[in-house]
Amino acid sequence: MKIWSIANQKGGVGKTTTTISLAGLLSQRGCRCLLVDADPHGSLSVYLGNDPDTQETGLYQLFHMEGEYQKYNVQQQILSTDFENIDLLPASTAMAALDRQMGTKQGKGLALSKALKCLSEDYDYVLIDCPPQLGILMVNALAVCNELLVPVQTEFLALKGLERMVHTLHMIMQSRNTVLSYTVIPTLFDRRTKASRGALEVLQEQYQENLWPSVIPVDTQFREASLRGMPLSMLAPKTRGIVAYQHLLSYLLGEVEQTEPVAEQR
Ligand SMILES: Nc1ncnc2c1ncn2[C@@H]1O[C@H](COP(=O)(O)OP(=O)(O)O)[C@@H](O)[C@H]1O
Ligand SMILES: [Mg+2]
Repeated sequence: MKIWSIANQKGGVGKTTTTISLAGLLSQRGCRCLLVDADPHGSLSVYLGNDPDTQETGLYQLFHMEGEYQKYNVQQQILSTDFENIDLLPASTAMAALDRQMGTKQGKGLALSKALKCLSEDYDYVLIDCPPQLGILMVNALAVCNELLVPVQTEFLALKGLERMVHTLHMIMQSRNTVLSYTVIPTLFDRRTKASRGALEVLQEQYQENLWPSVIPVDTQFREASLRGMPLSMLAPKTRGIVAYQHLLSYLLGEVEQTEPVAEQR
């Protein structure tokens, strides 16, 4: 089971879109995916038809399981979705109180890790959609993942957010005493704007080693897919946004050395 966290301390950069898009593509390849909605706003849960205000099972409950994490108890928190091979560990608004509730409790950073260990036979991929704040949920997500994906909107303000995220990552790596690799994913790229092109140049200069060498373009179909509550690959498999996510997935799976730059970049 591979665990990928999708994180950036800035909102609106494409974290949830990246999570659902990659899950759609992985599920269509026959991979069993578990999506973890670690954002108290619950956008991913809403996307998949759940209401975080009334949700009574999910990630929140995992933090309140006293003692041993048992497979059965963890599985009870998971919902199936309308899509084959995609399950959801939903968010609830109550998660916003977790930092306060957990306080200095021992092991609070490893709740998700302990829970996911029980599921290692059940899924091929776990994708964790992170909240835009550094707190217990983000710490759990970074502690458990094998791979960190950092979507960054190609505009100048977002670059600052990336700096903050990389700083957080270094702090967590120090406390974990491990090295976690991360991949920066330029998103919402619009070749026609100077802001997009300029931001991409900065990313190429400053994050070259960790940068996916292509971009996710702006594609209005993402909004359409979210309105319909479907992964975009199931609604419009050929649209340029999904073609770009397909390239990204191949890259992440090590199927290609170097992805072809998408047309927008040329
Ligand atoms: N490549 C894209 N093209 C067009 N719209 C996008 C793209 N990626 C994300 N969006 C839209 O931008 C908004 C923010 O994206 P979202 O994935 O929710 O960001 P985050 O989870 O980081 O807050 C959403 O309305 C989403 O549909
Ligand atoms: Mg989100």
